Amino acid sequence: MRFRIASVSEVEVGRAVAVEVNGRRIALCRPAPDEFYAIDDTCSHALASLSEGELMEYEIECPRHGAHFDIRTGEALTLPATKPVRTYRVAVDNGEIHIELPD
Ligand code: FES
Repeated sequence: MRFRIASVSEVEVGRAVAVEVNGRRIALCRPAPDEFYAIDDTCSHALASLSEGELMEYEIECPRHGAHFDIRTGEALTLPATKPVRTYRVAVDNGEIHIELPD
């Protein structure tokens, strides 16, 4: 299912924002003006909101223990996280950002 989650103008370049969609908390990341990626907002290591971490190009740093994740693949790049976070397909249409969630 496809959901509208934000307008392009609501997400600063180089930042991530948390959005709630259909009971899920998603970190919507904008590493470059025309690039958006969506991953689960909850860190795979423990309870922390990845959207509150620092976004460095395609890596986001968990604000709690500092694990890095690749926002394109969800892969955990550094300890203490060892499991990936889920990623979601993003589409931008007329300045509106949509994501695909599994049915
Ligand atoms: S909660 Fe994210 S690295 Fe520990």
